Amino acid sequence: MIEADLAVVDAAELVTLGGPVPRVGRAMRDLRAIPGGSVAARDGVIVFAGTGADYRREVRLRPGAVVIDARDRTVLPGFVDPHTHLPFAGWRDTEFVSRLEGATYESIAAAGGGIQSTVNATRKATLEDLVALGRGRLDRMLRHGTTTVEAKSGYGLSLDEELKQLEALRRLADQHPITIVPTFLGAHVVPAERRAERAAYVREVALEMVPEVARRGLARYCDVFVEQGAFTPEEGETILRAAAAAGLGLRVHADQRRAGGGAALAARLRADSADHLDHVDEAGIAALRRSGTTAILLPGASFFLRDPRDAPARRLIEADVPVALATDFNPGTCPTEAMTVILPIACLRLGLLPSEAVAAATLNAAHSLGLAGRIGSLEPGKQADIQVLDLPSHVHLAYRLGPDACRTVIKRGRIVVDDGRIVAR
Ligand code: NIG
Ligand code: FE
Repeated sequence: MIEADLAVVDAAELVTLGGPVPRVGRAMRDLRAIPGGSVAARDGVIVFAGTGADYRREVRLRPGAVVIDARDRTVLPGFVDPHTHLPFAGWRDTEFVSRLEGATYESIAAAGGGIQSTVNATRKATLEDLVALGRGRLDRMLRHGTTTVEAKSGYGLSLDEELKQLEALRRLADQHPITIVPTFLGAHVVPAERRAERAAYVREVALEMVPEVARRGLARYCDVFVEQGAFTPEEGETILRAAAAAGLGLRVHADQRRAGGGAALAARLRADSADHLDHVDEAGIAALRRSGTTAILLPGASFFLRDPRDAPARRLIEADVPVALATDFNPGTCPTEAMTVILPIACLRLGLLPSEAVAAATLNAAHSLGLAGRIGSLEPGKQADIQVLDLPSHVHLAYRLGPDACRTVIKRGRIVVDDGRIVAR
């Protein structure tokens, strides 16, 4: 018998996502879902996932074990959100209204708004402010089923201010159940006060900020925004090579607003992810396929910017590029913490099937962070990060346009959300 101290039993649908990692091509549709399935864990680790009949035959509950009845409910791995800009201060709701009146994201940035306005607000905030803001946002993520999140700096843009954002993430990681994977994004844009000496800023990011961030152990990844108005592929390469030399993994904001060589750069440097890709071309897709880089699509951002262009998700899947989904949570281009908002947009605008969207938001997202050995599926040996949804199947995650369906969230075998409310931190 397998001993367990936690079990989620008799789900309408248990989505395990066991099998190949990452999911590519046709296999993205194969969720290895079990109707009537049950999952059990011991000491925070999954020990069983299978049919109700096998569960009753093979699993013995320890005294005091917690059992969750998942009848009529769908059970999924916790969402992994692999691209957010979590530690910022200040919203940009006035820019939102200006855009609805005809201004563009670029014209707002050129007039001193956009990313720079969030930089100004974030520099004014204290470390404690950023921790308090971050805690509220992580709570909302957790209530919507997210159990692991990547989080970027990039609104500090000087050594001390970037360290403040990353330190806020470290403190949040110590006090919140959500696992945080921190990314250094000192190359988000050239800050206003350095515009006249951009080469010096790029050198400073590569030669001073990257080594200091790595020395303090404050980031696992380095990201660069490769885009007109941000950084060229050459500048990005300088910074990312320094990051790789310092032991950081690589991610790239690539081909978001126009085709700009970002995907090719990510592939050349064997980055773990190339993100956005709304304007990636066939050569970029082929390069990503060869390098095995995960394409992280952020359809919430193109939707929010009313960009008529969408990432070529079907082409990426046909080409066997691993595809993941993320919120891009930030105040300028996608102010939602909820992956449940992103899945319907991914299906309706990118043409993903609900099954593909679920694989992209769990297993493939975990793969893009190098964590698929531990999270992203419900299989024996993996961490018990589980969500229970008041939905009859995973299809309803997309079909019902983001209802508040998450009832229970389990992190490392512990119930942290019960009946939609946070019960443990
Ligand atoms: O991912 N593309 C660059 N960075 C963010 C936007 C940040 C902002 O507008 O504050 C993004 O869309
Ligand atoms: Fe982003």
